[in-house]
Amino acid sequence: MIKKVGILTSGGDAPGMNAAIRAVVRTSIYNNLEVYGIYDGYRGLYEGKIERLFRKSVSERLMRGGTFLGTARLPEFSNPEIREVAIENLNEYGIDALVTIGGDGTFRGALALDKMGIKCVGIPGTIDNDINGTDYTIGFDTAMNTVIDAIDKLRDTSSSHRRCSIIEVMGRNCGAIAIWTGIAVGAEYVASKETGFDIDDIVEVIRQASRFKRHAVVIVTENLTNVDELAKIITEKTPFEARATVLGHVQRGGSPTVRDRVLASTMGVKAVEELLKGNSGCCICEVGNKLVAIPFEEALKMEKDDLMDKYRALKVLW
Ligand code: F6P
Repeated sequence: MIKKVGILTSGGDAPGMNAAIRAVVRTSIYNNLEVYGIYDGYRGLYEGKIERLFRKSVSERLMRGGTFLGTARLPEFSNPEIREVAIENLNEYGIDALVTIGGDGTFRGALALDKMGIKCVGIPGTIDNDINGTDYTIGFDTAMNTVIDAIDKLRDTSSSHRRCSIIEVMGRNCGAIAIWTGIAVGAEYVASKETGFDIDDIVEVIRQASRFKRHAVVIVTENLTNVDELAKIITEKTPFEARATVLGHVQRGGSPTVRDRVLASTMGVKAVEELLKGNSGCCICEVGNKLVAIPFEEALKMEKDDLMDKYRALKVLW
C-alpha cells in the first residue's frame, strides 16, 4: 500500500496544470497519504527539489495558468543513470508513487521510472492535444479559446483593410489547435502536418475568397513554413494584401476554462485513486466522456483519427 505520493509537472506548461496538482494533493490528503511537490519537473527530481505539500499549499491555485511547481524539459532523463539519481532522491523522502503531468515526453519518462520500480500514473497536460489515448489533454481548450479570441480580433482589422490574416499557431507535431480553431473561426484555409502544405492550393482558395469576402484567414502550424514569406506570396498572387501574426507562447498562458478546470480536477482525483487501487504504468485518459486508465505504451501509440474528419468539414464550410 502506498504512503507517500510525489507530484510533478514536466514539458511545456498548460493552463489547468495547477488544478490537476491541487486535485492530486487534496485527494492524497483525503486518503491519508503524504504528498510531496517536486519542483521543475524531472530536472527538479534529479536535483532533489522536493517539498511536502499541504491542503493550504494549493489554495487559490485552481484558477491560475502555468504550473506553480514549475516545469522543465530534460531530454537527459532517457539516461538510466540520471533516473537512478532521481530514484535515490525519491527514496530519501520515502516517496513510493509518482503522479506526472505533461505530454508524451513526460509519459516516456514516467514509463521508464515505472519499469525501474517507482509506481507512476500520468495525467495528460499539454495544449497540443497530441496524446492519442485521450480525447482531450488539459490546456487544449483554454489554448484554443485564446487562439479564437486573437483571430476574432485580427478579423476586425483585416476585414477593415481588405486583408488576408495568416496566423501561426502552436503544435509542432500536431495540427489539432489549427484544425479545431479553423472550424471555430471559419478560416478559409488551414495548413498543418496532417493536411499538408500546398502553396498553389492556398493561393487558389484565397483568390476565390477575394471575389466575395473582405478578408481571409489562413491558419498555419509552427515549423511548417515561414509565415512572413507566405504573406508575401499571397500579397503578390491574390487581390488581398496579407499580414502574418505569430501567436507564440501567449497560447500557453491564461486562466483555464471551465472545461480544463473540470478535466484537470477529475483526472487528478482519478490518478490518486488508481495508485490506491495498486495500478501504475498508466495514464488517465478521457474516452467518450469517461475517465479511464490506459497503459502508457498503449496511450502513446494509439491512433487518433478525428482530425481529418474535422478538416473535411472545414473545407466545406469556409
Ligand atoms: O508542447 C507544447 C508546445 O507549446 C508546442 O505546441 C510547442 O511546439 C512547444 O511546446 C514550444 O516549446 P518551448 O516552450 O520549449 O518553446
